[in-house]
Amino acid sequence: MAISLSGLLLLLLLAGSAAAAFELEEATIDSIHRAFTAGELTSRGLVEIYLRRIASQDPALHAVIELDPGGALAAADRADAARVATEPGALPPLHGVPVLLKDNIAAAGALNATAGSLAMVGSRPARDAGVVERLRRAGAVVLGTASLSEWCNFRGPGIPAGWSPRGGQGKNPYMPSATPCASSSGSAIAAAANLVAVTIGTETDGSIMCPSSFNSVVGIKPTVGLTSRAGVIIISPRMDTVGPITRTVSDAVHVLEAIVGYDPRDAEATRMALKYIPEGGYNQFLNIDGLRGKRLGILRKDFFSFPSGSVQEKVFNQHFDVMR
Ligand SMILES: *[C@@H]1O[C@H](CO)[C@@H](O)[C@H](O)[C@H]1NC(C)=O
Repeated sequence: MAISLSGLLLLLLLAGSAAAAFELEEATIDSIHRAFTAGELTSRGLVEIYLRRIASQDPALHAVIELDPGGALAAADRADAARVATEPGALPPLHGVPVLLKDNIAAAGALNATAGSLAMVGSRPARDAGVVERLRRAGAVVLGTASLSEWCNFRGPGIPAGWSPRGGQGKNPYMPSATPCASSSGSAIAAAANLVAVTIGTETDGSIMCPSSFNSVVGIKPTVGLTSRAGVIIISPRMDTVGPITRTVSDAVHVLEAIVGYDPRDAEATRMALKYIPEGGYNQFLNIDGLRGKRLGILRKDFFSFPSGSVQEKVFNQHFDVMR
């Protein structure tokens, strides 16, 4: 059989692309699970990919305060071993998926929980926060802590958004001169820059929603008490809540599903909120055709009025057409 040189090159290219089918950029929980199931990726491999990515990108972005490579690789190895020994459908929803926690959330082990403050250096929590217990039960691998505004913006007035003495100034990856907003800035920056697919933030008023919006990722601010605040450095027990920041709505919902629920260590709020958790969970509401038949309104006057013929107008209309 004769095979041309260009045919041979094509075959080599195809072989190469099959081996590299997992795409780090835009990776989601769903694409990670597909790569795990197809045998293209292991949890250990993914932790190593994210550690390399963080080493190369984070010096410019300041989204990460601490990493726990030893703990993360050990947890990833356990997840990989369990995957081999278990039917795919029987694995928990975040099995082997790395997670970055805002630096005010406790994880037992090597990581300090400092809310970005030098005053807290050396504070290695004795046990997991309530949400971290649930994340680990759902199979997640704790990779490290994300930067934030020091004390979640409560250090004092006039402090730049996304700055802490431990993390430095977090940068918006889409526009480094723009604000990343805060206080869960590191979580949103990390998700936006593909430093990790899943991050956790906290909010008193705006600290999940604002950085998610400014860094073009998805954040959910759960009703207070849906998620436990035990083991979290908070500002106000009446207002603070813990929620996911990810690249897609589906991922945010998968993570929300994993972290909500009653916690005896935050008993009053989590008991009160129990009645708001829908029977059958949140994933049932993920609907790929969710926009079909919906009418979309645009606030032209105050938010989306662009000079006619401008780049902004063109880009906005393209995105609107996608939704249409
Ligand atoms: C936690 O803080 C201690 C004390 O500063 C430090 O030695 C240790 O490396 C920190 N842990 C991590 C994972 O960075």
